[in-house]
Amino acid sequence: MQERAPNTKKLYIKTWGCQMNSYDSGRMADILRPLGYRAVDAPEGADMVILNTCHIREKATDKVFSDLGRLRPLKEQKEAEGGKMLVAVAGCVAQAEGDFILERAPYVDMVFGPQTYHELPEMVLKANGNERIVNTDFDGDNKFDKLPEEHLNSGVSAFLSIQEGCDKFCTYCVVPYTRGAEYSRDVRAIIDEARRLVDAGALEITVLGQNVNAFHGVGPDGSIWGLGQLLRALNEIDGLERLRYTTSHPGDMDDDLIAAHGELDKLQPFLHLPVQSGSNKILKAMNRKHTRDLYFDVIERLRKARPDLAFSSDFIVGFPGETEEDFEDTMDLVRRVGFASCYSFKFSARPGTPAANMQNLVHESIATERLARLQGLLNEQQIAFNKKCVGLTLPVLLDRKGKKPGQLVGRSPFNQSVFVEAPDRLMNTIAQIQISEGFENSLTGSVVTGETESRAAS
Ligand code: SAH
Ligand code: SF4
Ligand code: F3S
Repeated sequence: MQERAPNTKKLYIKTWGCQMNSYDSGRMADILRPLGYRAVDAPEGADMVILNTCHIREKATDKVFSDLGRLRPLKEQKEAEGGKMLVAVAGCVAQAEGDFILERAPYVDMVFGPQTYHELPEMVLKANGNERIVNTDFDGDNKFDKLPEEHLNSGVSAFLSIQEGCDKFCTYCVVPYTRGAEYSRDVRAIIDEARRLVDAGALEITVLGQNVNAFHGVGPDGSIWGLGQLLRALNEIDGLERLRYTTSHPGDMDDDLIAAHGELDKLQPFLHLPVQSGSNKILKAMNRKHTRDLYFDVIERLRKARPDLAFSSDFIVGFPGETEEDFEDTMDLVRRVGFASCYSFKFSARPGTPAANMQNLVHESIATERLARLQGLLNEQQIAFNKKCVGLTLPVLLDRKGKKPGQLVGRSPFNQSVFVEAPDRLMNTIAQIQISEGFENSLTGSVVTGETESRAAS
């Protein structure tokens, strides 16, 4: 793509929420590059600030407004110096709150939802002409077809969105409203994008979707491909070393995808499979469309296909109507499955979702106490899992510098953070690391000499 703008403008993007937002932030930077915008890592003095927001829980949304408050003086200072700072709110809060953001924060110039990013150049042009923009359209062009092909700075571990939106309508969740109906990209476009990422240096690709295992994209032969079939095709890409996918729904784990875990050498032995609750009554009230037995069955079949597969999950405690017995069912499920790492949250009533109108609320103090008990058990399991890795030699994708001099940090196949003393030349490679210690949130180890690199990123 041609560079058009002679002057470099500073673009600061702050990202909250899921990996799909991280992917989107990268794509927004890509589409703004031909307009002269270059990413910077602080908002001071920026020509444009984009807050890419998350609406999933109340706390996440509150953070946006407190950040906006901090931007106001920076915008005023820029104006006092004769410049202009465009302030934009993107992502799921933008989609959900729309106009209301402009009312509450009059210094915001642009509010636009996740399905409009391909229209950014036009929107920026209008905003620079002092028009205030609110764009929360769902229909119209498909953003993936309109975004630029190039990915800049996607790094050695890259995200690739293959599916967006959700049709499941769990009663607590805003995603079907903020991201819209489920949509799968075409297989050809995904494979081409994956190849470009690998050519640009990616060794690991995580394919993304709000409900990624419901993927059903049109294949090159015109038939509909499921996720298992897509992963098989991605596994063939030369130079790609690792494949992951997230986030999955237990009800969409089909036989082919389960079999892929046993067959594909690049597919990593770690799966995030949110269950939310161990109580059938609560799962029903959540409209999860699966039971605890289905979850056990899926885990068992996956473990049969790939015995070393490690699991993580999401849990919500204190959902309306949750009794002590229901909560004990969740604790029991955790004990029976055994997780490597998990996220757990107190139920947050989200405006516009069915659960926000449910009556039999769980008292805050009870929810807090249950969350502490659940997190205690999950932490025990996480520490036990990490300690079990001591003595193993694991391939670790080293992609960050540590805080200590000479230290690199990377991810194990099981998604653990591994800290290691290593020469800089091992940065952006997969190195064999002998694990020496396991902590709650990380591992440490040392480089196994003689057998270090797979392929340096170009
Ligand atoms: N698509 C994924 C998760 C999307 S949201 C799935 O199907 O599970 C990420 C996590 O946030 C959810 O798994 C859930 O645990 C949590 N979450 C979503 N809505 C919530 C709410 N209203 N209150 C508390 N946690 C919530
Ligand atoms: Fe939300 Fe449920 Fe869809 Fe996940 S499956 S995104 S929790 S509605
Ligand atoms: Fe948050 Fe939207 Fe992702 S609500 S979790 S940023 S889909």
